[in-house]
Amino acid sequence: MRLLVLLALILVPGWAMGQEEIGNVAEGHAFARDVCAQCHAVERGEAASPDERAAPFIQVASTPGLTPMALFAWLQTSHPNMPALLLDEDEMRDVTAYILSLRTPR
Ligand code: HEC
Repeated sequence: MRLLVLLALILVPGWAMGQEEIGNVAEGHAFARDVCAQCHAVERGEAASPDERAAPFIQVASTPGLTPMALFAWLQTSHPNMPALLLDEDEMRDVTAYILSLRTPR
């Protein structure tokens, strides 16, 4: 885990910036709809994911202690039931910004 954290720090300079500076929320939303929505519920009002093993993003967003860094680390590693998604840095920032934006009440 320490290695992942380090990796995230190296690959994602500026991760510690304010939430709104992480990435572009609207771009991230569009990207999530295109790429992640195949398995995850990506919309704010969507309670159930198409793939029941994939957590709805609203639920991911409300995980206590979730940080942009944790999301970056997740998105850069592979997972048993989720394809390795090879996002470029902008995509990663945008989709992370979008997920974290679900936290704030509208
Ligand atoms: C092909 C299906 C699929 C796609 C596409 C997919 N995911 Fe997943 N995702 C999963 C599954 C299944 C899990 C549950 C963990 C596991 O078993 O690997 C998961 C878990 C996660 C988690 C961890 C959730 C938790 O409970 O902590 C995050 C964050 C995540 N996905 C983000 C994304 C993002 C962002 C995208 C789009 C860029 C995406 N996923 C695209 C299937 C998918």
